[in-house]
Amino acid sequence: MILVAGGTGTLGKRLLPRLIERGEPVRALVRRADASLPNGVERAVGDITDPEALKRAVAGAGTVICAVSGFGGIRGADPRTVDGLGTRALIAAAAAAGAERFVLVSVFHARADHPNELQREKFLSEQALRTSGMPWTILRPAPSMERWTWVVGENVPSGGKALVLGRGENPVNFVSAEDVASVVVDAATAADQAGRVIDVAGPEDVTLMGIVGRFEAALGRPVPVRRVPTAAPRAMSVLARPFVPARAWQARAAAVMDTTDMSIRAQAPDGVTGQRTFTEMVGSAVRASGGGPLPEP
Ligand SMILES: NC(=O)c1ccc[n+]([C@@H]2O[C@H](COP(=O)([O-])OP(=O)(O)OC[C@H]3O[C@@H](n4cnc5c(N)ncnc54)[C@H](OP(=O)(O)O)[C@@H]3O)[C@@H](O)[C@H]2O)c1
Repeated sequence: MILVAGGTGTLGKRLLPRLIERGEPVRALVRRADASLPNGVERAVGDITDPEALKRAVAGAGTVICAVSGFGGIRGADPRTVDGLGTRALIAAAAAAGAERFVLVSVFHARADHPNELQREKFLSEQALRTSGMPWTILRPAPSMERWTWVVGENVPSGGKALVLGRGENPVNFVSAEDVASVVVDAATAADQAGRVIDVAGPEDVTLMGIVGRFEAALGRPVPVRRVPTAAPRAMSVLARPFVPARAWQARAAAVMDTTDMSIRAQAPDGVTGQRTFTEMVGSAVRASGGGPLPEP
Protein backbone atom coordinates (compact mmCIF):
# COMPACT_ATOMS: atom_id res chain seq x y z
CA MET A 1 0.00 0.00 0.00
CA ILE A 2 1.28 3.46 -0.93
CA LEU A 3 -0.07 6.39 1.09
CA VAL A 4 -0.04 9.75 -0.69
CA ALA A 5 -0.47 12.92 1.37
CA GLY A 6 -1.32 15.83 -0.93
CA GLY A 7 -3.06 13.67 -3.55
CA THR A 8 -5.50 16.44 -4.51
CA GLY A 9 -2.78 19.00 -5.33
CA THR A 10 -1.26 20.02 -8.66
CA LEU A 11 1.36 17.29 -8.34
CA GLY A 12 -0.78 14.77 -6.45
CA LYS A 13 -3.51 14.78 -9.14
CA ARG A 14 -0.90 13.71 -11.66
CA LEU A 15 0.70 11.21 -9.32
CA LEU A 16 -2.29 9.09 -8.26
CA PRO A 17 -3.25 7.82 -11.76
CA ARG A 18 0.38 6.87 -12.45
CA LEU A 19 0.56 4.80 -9.26
CA ILE A 20 -2.80 3.15 -9.99
CA GLU A 21 -1.68 2.33 -13.55
CA ARG A 22 1.24 0.43 -12.08
CA GLY A 23 -1.22 -1.74 -10.19
CA GLU A 24 -0.15 -0.41 -6.78
CA PRO A 25 -2.80 -0.24 -4.01
CA VAL A 26 -3.03 3.48 -3.23
CA ARG A 27 -4.53 5.46 -0.35
CA ALA A 28 -4.77 9.26 -0.24
CA LEU A 29 -4.88 11.44 2.87
CA VAL A 30 -7.52 14.10 2.08
CA ARG A 31 -8.86 16.99 4.13
CA ARG A 32 -12.31 16.95 2.51
CA ALA A 33 -14.38 13.76 2.74
CA ASP A 34 -15.84 14.54 -0.72
CA ALA A 35 -12.47 15.25 -2.39
CA SER A 36 -12.40 13.98 -5.96
CA LEU A 37 -10.02 11.03 -6.37
CA PRO A 38 -9.43 8.60 -9.26
CA ASN A 39 -11.26 5.26 -9.13
CA GLY A 40 -9.43 2.72 -7.08
CA VAL A 41 -7.85 5.16 -4.62
CA GLU A 42 -8.78 4.50 -1.00
CA ARG A 43 -9.37 7.65 1.06
CA ALA A 44 -8.17 8.45 4.58
CA VAL A 45 -9.90 11.61 5.69
CA GLY A 46 -7.96 13.94 7.97
CA ASP A 47 -5.57 16.80 8.38
CA ILE A 48 -1.81 16.29 8.34
CA THR A 49 -1.63 18.02 11.71
CA ASP A 50 -4.01 15.50 13.36
CA PRO A 51 -2.03 12.61 14.93
CA GLU A 52 -5.07 10.30 15.17
CA ALA A 53 -5.90 10.82 11.48
CA LEU A 54 -2.25 10.13 10.60
CA LYS A 55 -2.26 6.86 12.58
CA ARG A 56 -5.25 5.66 10.54
CA ALA A 57 -3.73 6.90 7.28
CA VAL A 58 -0.35 5.15 7.64
CA ALA A 59 -1.73 1.82 8.96
CA GLY A 60 -0.48 -0.89 6.62
CA ALA A 61 1.29 1.53 4.25
CA GLY A 62 4.72 0.21 3.26
CA THR A 63 5.50 3.40 1.34
CA VAL A 64 4.54 6.97 2.18
CA ILE A 65 4.74 9.88 -0.26
CA CYS A 66 4.46 13.37 1.23
CA ALA A 67 3.43 15.91 -1.43
CA VAL A 68 1.56 18.42 0.73
CA SER A 69 2.04 22.15 0.55
CA GLY A 70 0.74 24.93 2.76
CA PHE A 71 2.12 27.62 0.47
CA GLY A 72 -1.25 28.42 -1.13
CA GLY A 73 -2.67 29.46 2.24
CA ILE A 74 -5.88 27.51 1.52
CA ARG A 75 -8.18 26.97 4.52
CA GLY A 76 -5.65 28.09 7.12
CA ALA A 77 -2.76 26.06 5.68
CA ASP A 78 0.68 27.65 5.91
CA PRO A 79 4.28 26.49 5.45
CA ARG A 80 4.95 26.19 9.18
CA THR A 81 1.96 23.98 10.00
CA VAL A 82 1.84 21.92 6.77
CA ASP A 83 5.38 21.74 5.31
CA GLY A 84 6.86 21.92 8.82
CA LEU A 85 4.90 20.52 11.77
CA GLY A 86 2.42 18.44 9.75
CA THR A 87 5.07 16.87 7.54
CA ARG A 88 7.18 16.01 10.57
CA ALA A 89 4.11 14.49 12.26
CA LEU A 90 3.57 12.31 9.16
CA ILE A 91 7.22 11.23 9.22
CA ALA A 92 6.91 10.27 12.89
CA ALA A 93 3.63 8.40 12.29
CA ALA A 94 5.07 6.49 9.32
CA ALA A 95 8.20 5.52 11.26
CA ALA A 96 6.10 4.38 14.26
CA ALA A 97 3.93 2.25 11.95
CA GLY A 98 6.98 0.59 10.39
CA ALA A 99 6.85 2.12 6.87
CA GLU A 100 9.68 0.84 4.71
CA ARG A 101 10.07 3.81 2.37
CA PHE A 102 9.31 7.51 2.67
CA VAL A 103 9.45 9.92 -0.27
CA LEU A 104 9.44 13.59 0.69
CA VAL A 105 8.64 16.16 -1.96
CA SER A 106 10.67 19.07 -0.70
CA VAL A 107 11.59 22.18 -2.65
CA PHE A 108 14.48 23.55 -4.67
CA HIS A 109 16.95 25.46 -2.41
CA ALA A 110 15.63 23.96 0.85
CA ARG A 111 18.07 25.19 3.48
CA ALA A 112 18.15 26.43 7.07
CA ASP A 113 18.96 30.07 6.28
CA HIS A 114 16.75 30.62 3.22
CA PRO A 115 14.79 33.91 3.23
CA ASN A 116 11.53 32.00 2.53
CA GLU A 117 9.80 30.20 5.39
CA LEU A 118 8.79 27.41 2.97
CA GLN A 119 12.39 26.45 2.17
CA ARG A 120 13.36 26.65 5.85
CA GLU A 121 10.48 24.41 6.97
CA LYS A 122 11.10 21.89 4.17
CA PHE A 123 14.75 21.74 5.22
CA LEU A 124 13.80 20.97 8.84
CA SER A 125 11.45 18.25 7.61
CA GLU A 126 14.26 16.81 5.45
CA GLN A 127 16.44 16.61 8.57
CA ALA A 128 13.67 14.86 10.52
CA LEU A 129 13.30 12.32 7.71
CA ARG A 130 17.04 11.62 7.52
CA THR A 131 17.08 10.70 11.21
CA SER A 132 13.74 8.83 11.22
CA GLY A 133 15.25 5.38 10.75
CA MET A 134 13.17 4.78 7.57
CA PRO A 135 14.74 4.43 4.13
CA TRP A 136 14.08 7.82 2.50
CA THR A 137 14.30 9.75 -0.75
CA ILE A 138 14.10 13.55 -0.94
CA LEU A 139 13.03 15.32 -4.14
CA ARG A 140 13.62 19.03 -4.58
CA PRO A 141 11.58 20.30 -7.55
CA ALA A 142 11.98 23.71 -9.15
CA PRO A 143 8.90 25.98 -9.20
CA SER A 144 5.93 24.53 -11.03
CA MET A 145 5.32 25.43 -14.69
CA GLU A 146 1.61 24.69 -14.28
CA ARG A 147 1.30 27.02 -11.27
CA TRP A 148 3.25 29.89 -12.89
CA THR A 149 1.48 29.57 -16.22
CA TRP A 150 -1.70 30.18 -14.21
CA VAL A 151 -0.28 32.96 -11.97
CA VAL A 152 0.99 34.93 -14.97
CA GLY A 153 -1.68 34.04 -17.51
CA GLU A 154 -4.96 33.19 -15.77
CA ASN A 155 -6.86 35.95 -17.57
CA VAL A 156 -4.78 36.19 -20.73
CA PRO A 157 -6.73 33.82 -23.06
CA SER A 158 -9.94 35.74 -22.26
CA GLY A 159 -8.32 39.07 -23.19
CA GLY A 160 -7.09 40.14 -19.73
CA LYS A 161 -3.64 41.29 -18.66
CA ALA A 162 -0.72 39.07 -17.75
CA LEU A 163 0.47 39.47 -14.15
CA VAL A 164 4.20 40.02 -13.69
CA LEU A 165 5.54 40.26 -10.14
CA GLY A 166 8.73 42.31 -9.89
CA ARG A 167 10.82 43.12 -12.95
CA GLY A 168 10.13 39.68 -14.38
CA GLU A 169 13.56 39.57 -15.98
CA ASN A 170 15.28 37.04 -13.71
CA PRO A 171 15.75 33.65 -15.44
CA VAL A 172 14.12 30.96 -13.32
CA ASN A 173 14.12 27.23 -13.88
CA PHE A 174 10.57 25.82 -13.88
CA VAL A 175 9.55 22.17 -14.14
CA SER A 176 6.26 20.57 -15.14
CA ALA A 177 4.35 18.64 -12.46
CA GLU A 178 4.02 15.87 -15.10
CA ASP A 179 7.80 15.46 -15.09
CA VAL A 180 7.99 15.68 -11.29
CA ALA A 181 5.28 13.00 -11.00
CA SER A 182 7.42 10.56 -13.02
CA VAL A 183 10.38 11.13 -10.70
CA VAL A 184 8.19 10.66 -7.61
CA VAL A 185 6.85 7.35 -8.97
CA ASP A 186 10.42 6.13 -9.56
CA ALA A 187 11.46 7.21 -6.07
CA ALA A 188 8.49 5.34 -4.59
CA THR A 189 8.76 2.13 -6.58
CA ALA A 190 12.23 1.58 -8.08
CA ALA A 191 15.18 -0.08 -6.36
CA ASP A 192 18.28 1.88 -5.28
CA GLN A 193 16.45 5.13 -4.53
CA ALA A 194 17.10 5.24 -0.77
CA GLY A 195 19.34 7.98 0.63
CA ARG A 196 19.14 10.17 -2.50
CA VAL A 197 18.45 13.91 -2.58
CA ILE A 198 17.35 14.69 -6.13
CA ASP A 199 16.94 18.17 -7.61
CA VAL A 200 14.19 18.04 -10.25
CA ALA A 201 14.60 20.76 -12.87
CA GLY A 202 13.01 21.66 -16.17
CA PRO A 203 14.78 21.87 -19.54
CA GLU A 204 15.06 25.67 -19.70
CA ASP A 205 15.25 28.87 -17.67
CA VAL A 206 12.46 31.37 -18.36
CA THR A 207 11.75 34.88 -17.08
CA LEU A 208 8.19 35.92 -16.17
CA MET A 209 8.29 38.25 -19.19
CA GLY A 210 9.39 35.20 -21.21
CA ILE A 211 6.19 33.44 -20.10
CA VAL A 212 4.23 36.44 -21.41
CA GLY A 213 6.11 36.05 -24.71
CA ARG A 214 5.00 32.43 -24.94
CA PHE A 215 1.36 33.49 -24.46
CA GLU A 216 1.83 36.05 -27.27
CA ALA A 217 3.24 33.34 -29.54
CA ALA A 218 0.43 30.90 -28.69
CA LEU A 219 -2.33 33.51 -29.18
CA GLY A 220 -0.74 35.32 -32.15
CA ARG A 221 -1.36 38.74 -30.57
CA PRO A 222 0.31 41.15 -28.12
CA VAL A 223 -0.60 40.57 -24.46
CA PRO A 224 -1.01 43.59 -22.12
CA VAL A 225 0.93 43.28 -18.85
CA ARG A 226 0.06 44.37 -15.32
CA ARG A 227 3.34 44.81 -13.48
CA VAL A 228 3.62 44.75 -9.71
CA PRO A 229 7.03 46.36 -9.07
CA THR A 230 9.63 44.51 -6.97
CA ALA A 231 9.27 47.08 -4.20
CA ALA A 232 5.58 46.24 -3.93
CA PRO A 233 6.02 42.51 -3.21
CA ARG A 234 8.77 43.42 -0.72
CA ALA A 235 6.64 46.03 1.02
CA MET A 236 3.59 43.76 0.95
CA SER A 237 5.61 40.94 2.50
CA VAL A 238 6.09 43.13 5.57
CA LEU A 239 2.82 45.08 5.62
CA ALA A 240 0.47 42.16 4.98
CA ARG A 241 1.95 39.94 7.68
CA PRO A 242 -0.43 40.77 10.56
CA PHE A 243 -3.53 40.81 8.33
CA VAL A 244 -3.23 38.24 5.54
CA PRO A 245 -0.31 35.94 6.36
CA ALA A 246 -0.56 33.98 3.09
CA ARG A 247 -0.10 37.15 1.04
CA ALA A 248 2.93 38.07 3.17
CA TRP A 249 4.97 34.93 2.53
CA GLN A 250 3.83 34.66 -1.09
CA ALA A 251 4.93 38.27 -1.67
CA ARG A 252 8.26 37.56 -0.01
CA ALA A 253 8.69 34.50 -2.24
CA ALA A 254 7.91 36.61 -5.33
CA ALA A 255 10.57 39.14 -4.34
CA VAL A 256 13.12 36.33 -3.80
CA MET A 257 12.22 34.80 -7.17
CA ASP A 258 12.79 38.16 -8.85
CA THR A 259 16.30 38.60 -7.44
CA THR A 260 17.86 35.20 -6.56
CA ASP A 261 19.75 32.85 -8.88
CA MET A 262 17.11 30.19 -9.53
CA SER A 263 18.47 29.15 -12.91
CA ILE A 264 19.53 25.67 -13.99
CA ARG A 265 23.10 26.64 -12.93
CA ALA A 266 21.96 26.51 -9.30
CA GLN A 267 20.75 22.89 -9.59
CA ALA A 268 22.85 19.98 -8.33
CA PRO A 269 24.65 18.39 -11.32
CA ASP A 270 23.32 14.89 -10.55
CA GLY A 271 19.68 16.05 -10.55
CA VAL A 272 16.96 14.99 -12.97
CA THR A 273 15.86 17.22 -15.86
CA GLY A 274 12.27 17.02 -17.13
CA GLN A 275 11.34 17.30 -20.79
CA ARG A 276 8.28 19.54 -20.95
CA THR A 277 9.03 23.09 -22.17
CA PHE A 278 7.20 26.29 -21.31
CA THR A 279 6.21 26.72 -24.95
CA GLU A 280 4.41 23.35 -24.84
CA MET A 281 2.89 24.15 -21.43
CA VAL A 282 1.47 27.54 -22.47
CA GLY A 283 0.32 26.21 -25.86
CA SER A 284 -1.69 23.40 -24.28
CA ALA A 285 -3.09 25.70 -21.55
CA VAL A 286 -4.31 28.19 -24.18
CA ARG A 287 -5.87 25.41 -26.29
CA ALA A 288 -7.60 23.91 -23.22
CA SER A 289 -8.93 27.31 -22.09
CA GLY A 290 -11.28 27.63 -25.09
CA GLY A 291 -10.90 31.42 -24.80
CA GLY A 292 -11.91 31.55 -21.11
CA PRO A 293 -9.75 32.05 -18.01
CA LEU A 294 -7.25 29.30 -17.23
CA PRO A 295 -8.49 26.88 -14.56
CA GLU A 296 -6.35 26.60 -11.43
CA PRO A 297 -3.89 23.76 -12.13
N1 LIG B 1 4.05 24.40 -6.74
C1 LIG B 1 5.36 24.63 -6.80
O1 LIG B 1 5.84 25.58 -7.46
C2 LIG B 1 6.32 23.72 -6.06
C3 LIG B 1 7.70 23.90 -6.24
C4 LIG B 1 8.59 23.04 -5.57
C5 LIG B 1 8.11 22.05 -4.74
N2 LIG B 1 6.77 21.92 -4.58
C6 LIG B 1 6.31 20.85 -3.67
O2 LIG B 1 5.61 19.90 -4.44
C7 LIG B 1 4.58 19.30 -3.65
C8 LIG B 1 3.27 19.44 -4.38
O3 LIG B 1 2.96 20.82 -4.53
P1 LIG B 1 1.67 21.27 -5.33
O4 LIG B 1 2.09 22.33 -6.28
O5 LIG B 1 0.96 20.06 -5.85
O6 LIG B 1 0.82 21.93 -4.14
P2 LIG B 1 -0.73 22.30 -4.15
O7 LIG B 1 -1.31 22.23 -5.51
O8 LIG B 1 -0.86 23.57 -3.36
O9 LIG B 1 -1.40 21.10 -3.30
C9 LIG B 1 -1.22 21.04 -1.91
C10 LIG B 1 -1.75 19.71 -1.39
O10 LIG B 1 -1.51 19.67 0.03
C11 LIG B 1 -2.75 19.34 0.68
N3 LIG B 1 -2.79 19.95 2.01
C12 LIG B 1 -2.60 21.26 2.34
N4 LIG B 1 -2.74 21.44 3.66
C13 LIG B 1 -3.02 20.20 4.18
C14 LIG B 1 -3.29 19.74 5.49
N5 LIG B 1 -3.29 20.58 6.54
N6 LIG B 1 -3.53 18.42 5.67
C15 LIG B 1 -3.55 17.57 4.61
N7 LIG B 1 -3.31 17.95 3.33
C16 LIG B 1 -3.05 19.26 3.12
C17 LIG B 1 -3.82 19.93 -0.22
O11 LIG B 1 -5.06 19.34 0.06
P3 LIG B 1 -6.48 20.11 -0.14
O12 LIG B 1 -7.00 19.64 -1.47
O13 LIG B 1 -7.30 19.65 0.99
O14 LIG B 1 -6.21 21.60 -0.12
C18 LIG B 1 -3.26 19.54 -1.59
O15 LIG B 1 -3.54 18.19 -1.86
C19 LIG B 1 4.62 20.02 -2.30
O16 LIG B 1 5.39 19.27 -1.41
C20 LIG B 1 5.31 21.33 -2.64
O17 LIG B 1 5.95 21.91 -1.52
C21 LIG B 1 5.86 22.71 -5.23
